[in-house]
Amino acid sequence: MGWLEGQAALVTGGTGGIGSAIVRRYVNEGARVCVMARDDEQLSALRSELGDAIITVQGDVSKYEDNQRAVAATLNAFGKLDTFVGNAAVFDYFTCLDRIAPEDFESAFQRLFAINVQGYMLGARCSTDALRASRGSMIFTLSNSAFYAGGGGILYVTAKHALVGMIRQLAYELAPDIRVNGVAPGATNTPMKSLDGLNARSVPLNQIPGFEQGAAQAVPLQRIAEPEDHTGHYVLLASSENSGLTTANIIHSDGGWEVRSPGAASHRKV
Ligand SMILES: NC(=O)c1ccc[n+]([C@@H]2O[C@H](COP(=O)([O-])OP(=O)(O)OC[C@H]3O[C@@H](n4cnc5c(N)ncnc54)[C@H](O)[C@@H]3O)[C@@H](O)[C@H]2O)c1
Repeated sequence: MGWLEGQAALVTGGTGGIGSAIVRRYVNEGARVCVMARDDEQLSALRSELGDAIITVQGDVSKYEDNQRAVAATLNAFGKLDTFVGNAAVFDYFTCLDRIAPEDFESAFQRLFAINVQGYMLGARCSTDALRASRGSMIFTLSNSAFYAGGGGILYVTAKHALVGMIRQLAYELAPDIRVNGVAPGATNTPMKSLDGLNARSVPLNQIPGFEQGAAQAVPLQRIAEPEDHTGHYVLLASSENSGLTTANIIHSDGGWEVRSPGAASHRKV
């Protein structure tokens, strides 16, 4: 028996690096999953791989009606929703404040926050009634950038910090019916995309030269994460049997950023 046997989940950005790993793990644990993402081809590839265990909804998380459609499709297919995973986001290619052209600033800010912050909040809004009925939970993908500077640029880091407040406020507002938690991955080997047009040098995250090595050297555990490294945390938080008294919590899955130090490895050998 898996930890999520008979459960129904909705995962946004579920075709991406971390999202698809969550979807596969949830299915392995016995859940059925509605996968919402933007790209139809990637959604259909995941359907071919996972068959009846999933349904897919093509949509944009920054739009209320698309989130509503995804929740309705979940209820229609599975009869309930136990876990909402807000995960879809875009990166900003480490772009600093003074590198954003003044004429692009308002649009860049609004587009990134519309996906990374408003998208999570709309998903929460649309899934609240169903999760109240199941006494389920919400889980949001944060980042080490929700706590520390330097893991992204000004827009991405500020947006991820905002989500710490969102998790706390939602956990407060929705208790005792719905638990609300987060997982904060560190640098992970995925092709995470940046906001269109923000930075001319932009490439997917894991194609940045030196990204993997730099990420490994930055943390005490000395390796970059693979998406699968994080998925156990999403299973634990979705399982009311195993984390029923856990809300307003954010699990760090980042190789130890909090205690990072460039000299840590060599000091240990003295
Ligand atoms: N890769 C990393 O190093 C890393 C580190 C910490 C946190 N994260 C977080 O993990 C989450 C997943 O990122 P990933 O690395 O898997 O990236 P990814 O680009 O591989 O996946 C992102 C997913 O979100 C979807 N998406 C993007 N914009 C969307 C929109 N407007 N509407 C619907 N779907 C949309 C994409 O289709 C894709 O499925 C994000 O919240 C990201 O901030 C990533």
